[in-house]
Amino acid sequence: MTLPIRIAPSILAADFAKLGQEVRDVVAAGADWVHLDVMDGHFVPNISFGADVIKSLRSYTEATFDCHLMISPADPYLEAFAKAGCDRITVHAEAGPHLHRSLQTIRNLGKLAGVTINPATPLSAIENVLDDVDLVLIMSVNPGFGGQKFIPAMTQKIAAAKSLIGDRPIELEVDGGVAVETAPMIAKAGANVLVAGSAIFKGGSIEAYRSTISELRSAAEAGRS
Ligand code: DX5
Ligand code: ZN
Repeated sequence: MTLPIRIAPSILAADFAKLGQEVRDVVAAGADWVHLDVMDGHFVPNISFGADVIKSLRSYTEATFDCHLMISPADPYLEAFAKAGCDRITVHAEAGPHLHRSLQTIRNLGKLAGVTINPATPLSAIENVLDDVDLVLIMSVNPGFGGQKFIPAMTQKIAAAKSLIGDRPIELEVDGGVAVETAPMIAKAGANVLVAGSAIFKGGSIEAYRSTISELRSAAEAGRS
């Protein structure tokens, strides 16, 4: 199943002092989804923002809010993120003992469910939940920080995830070190959703966001064909 290429800027790399405007600008610049990286200083060694910030951002755009929870436990907070306006909620397979329960909770809240794994976690960790997800996210850096380098071995993992997904209508997303240089091989391996933080927001203006988003999209489409 071939899903469209989607560019999902991570606002982790945006200017936090004007997040609402940044969200508005990046969507006006052509972003398909807004990627929201939630970090707890426990599952990952960094703290970002939580449901209240997302709730405040919700009125700035109607674009899909793609929430990536790097928190453990996640289950006690899923309802808060759903209520804050996340359309998609992705949890880490490593973050809790009952992955099916987390995914079913997300769907029962009326949201699209995603599962993700760290670079060192084998794909077998998610093969039994593929009927319970709308999205698989392959982490191509160790989560916690923006601006890291894409781990080359993840290209093969993306391809393996793509074949595991088979004909299911599941979005295959990649997060970490995505740039114009890495986008072609990521799309060639089978991913259709590209998260990019620093590559986009380092531009610092709506014009720069527009040109990087368009370059990322062209690079991914070129990699596919
Ligand atoms: C990493 C986050 C990513 C990160 C990507 O923990 O999940 O979304 O912000 O940043 P870049 O694109 O700079 O690698
Ligand atoms: Zn992320």
